[in-house]
Amino acid sequence: MGDLSGIEKQALQALAEVADSAGLEAWRVSHLGRNSALMQVFSSLGTLSKEERPIVGQAANVVKKALESAHAGRMEELNAIALQKSLEGDKLDVTLPGRPYPIGRLHPDTRILRELYRVFAEMGFQVFRSREVESDEYNFQLLNFPVGHPAREMQDTYFIEAENRGDNPIVLRTHTSPGQIRAMRKYSALNPKDPPPIRIILPGMVYRYEQVDNSHETQFDQLEGLAVGPGIRFSDLKGTLTDMARRLFGQQARTRFRASYFPFTEPSAEFDIECFQCGGRGCSVCGGGWLEIGGSGMIHPIVLENGGYDPERFTGFAFGFGVQRIAMLKYGINDIRYFWANDLRFLEQF
Ligand code: PHE
Repeated sequence: MGDLSGIEKQALQALAEVADSAGLEAWRVSHLGRNSALMQVFSSLGTLSKEERPIVGQAANVVKKALESAHAGRMEELNAIALQKSLEGDKLDVTLPGRPYPIGRLHPDTRILRELYRVFAEMGFQVFRSREVESDEYNFQLLNFPVGHPAREMQDTYFIEAENRGDNPIVLRTHTSPGQIRAMRKYSALNPKDPPPIRIILPGMVYRYEQVDNSHETQFDQLEGLAVGPGIRFSDLKGTLTDMARRLFGQQARTRFRASYFPFTEPSAEFDIECFQCGGRGCSVCGGGWLEIGGSGMIHPIVLENGGYDPERFTGFAFGFGVQRIAMLKYGINDIRYFWANDLRFLEQF
């Protein structure tokens, strides 16, 4: 016991002489470390008698606590002294210009998407988000691509889970069109007898097997559009897409519709926008003067029905286009692979 108070006294004396943080650490090692006199008291407890053991143990703990708190106190003092010193010693020149802070910017893809949201918001379309991981049922079957349908060939994709799922594997969506079914089902469930009209756009990533070249990637954004209501006609579709092109590229922008086929629209059309870079003469961005933007058509009655809308009462149109294609046209980008290559020399131009 006499020992303990000696240990404490000696340690505190030594602490008063510590002048910096290195000294403080050395002090901690020699007075609270594993080989310190105090820790030896703890390790010798086993050699004491049953009666002595708790008494000595408690006393040693009291000393340990005291030393620890003295150590913490000294550390604060030393920090305060060091701060004071640096404040007095180092002069701070507040008139020096600051270092330029590198400011990030929006990815060209985000920019074009926001631009599209603006254009469609002006025409009364709301944004509807739908999932990227889909079942075969939603990605194909409910869109009138039954199992084995040849039109699936164009949209081979990545499988997430196929085992034990028969004809309904989980896939990465090949287009944003499954969102049509999800949206129609959601809205028609609100009032199944008299479902509300719909006017939405559905943006997002899609994944396909593609032969990659300067206008094809295995992953890209689509923007789907869906309008359902009584009396919607093909002319509404044409008007909407033509107006979109004008709002994006200016009044002189021209669009072209070509008859096409999709299982979920009837009739169907592909639509092109005249290349804004070359004015339709043909250039490295567009090739022949027109840029293929996407597909469109009047919603097939089977698809309306699958969505909970009675095809006798409702009609509608849908379209889906490649967002990067629009960005390429708008910003004069001649290779789609730049979008996800993460090359700063490309990104910094936006
Ligand atoms: N989903 C079609 C595709 O990815 C495009 C499309 C959307 C066609 C809507 C018609 C209507 O190729």
